[in-house]
Amino acid sequence: MDVLEFLLLVLLGFWLMLPAYVPNSAAVLFGGGLPIDMGKSWRGKRILGDGKTWRGLIGGVAAGTGIGIVQLYIAYPFDKIDFFGFGKVPEAMAIVFVLAIGSLLGDMVGAFIKRRLGLERGAKAPVLDQYNFIAGAFILTLICFPDWFMRSFVNGEHIISLLAVLIITPLLHRGVNIIGYKRGLKKVPW
Ligand code: CTP
Ligand code: MG
Repeated sequence: MDVLEFLLLVLLGFWLMLPAYVPNSAAVLFGGGLPIDMGKSWRGKRILGDGKTWRGLIGGVAAGTGIGIVQLYIAYPFDKIDFFGFGKVPEAMAIVFVLAIGSLLGDMVGAFIKRRLGLERGAKAPVLDQYNFIAGAFILTLICFPDWFMRSFVNGEHIISLLAVLIITPLLHRGVNIIGYKRGLKKVPW
């Protein structure tokens, strides 16, 4: 494999995961209002907390799915068969939706675990904060579209796409959150 092939596989990983990255940032913009757990607690601690809202969830999933559909439009003129890795329409649209919803479900599982550990909303949870949404998106697509997941992120040289996403995501997450914090969109820079 040459350098160009390697870089293309790295890029492909981020291209395919974009519908999972966008919901996280979009949730910050759309978030607010009614919490998903309706304010309820379990064993003395909030189930999810005020940081997980219906508006954030719905807005985030819509934004992630929207960006995915834009990607399909961008890819179409160049690659009418595989849409640059997303596969055939309409399955490709379902994959995009599953990536978006998996991302925010993973984020909710992360919040659930944080509350069980006694961490307040917004408290720092290394590893969990950086990987919850990526893990959610990977696991849900693995369940819903196992063949697509294997051919895109596991089989042969495609493992490079998976490793690139796993290695670069914490840096990306940190960078985006610092920007969000400086622009006053986020309360904490993590
Ligand atoms: N957000 C939302 N709904 C979601 C996810 C996120 O409204 N489903 C918004 C909230 O305003 C949240 C912000 O996006 O505060 C940042 O998200 P995140 O860092 O995941 O939440 P935290 O505030 O850190 O809360 P937690 O400790 O529960 O992760
Ligand atoms: Mg947080």
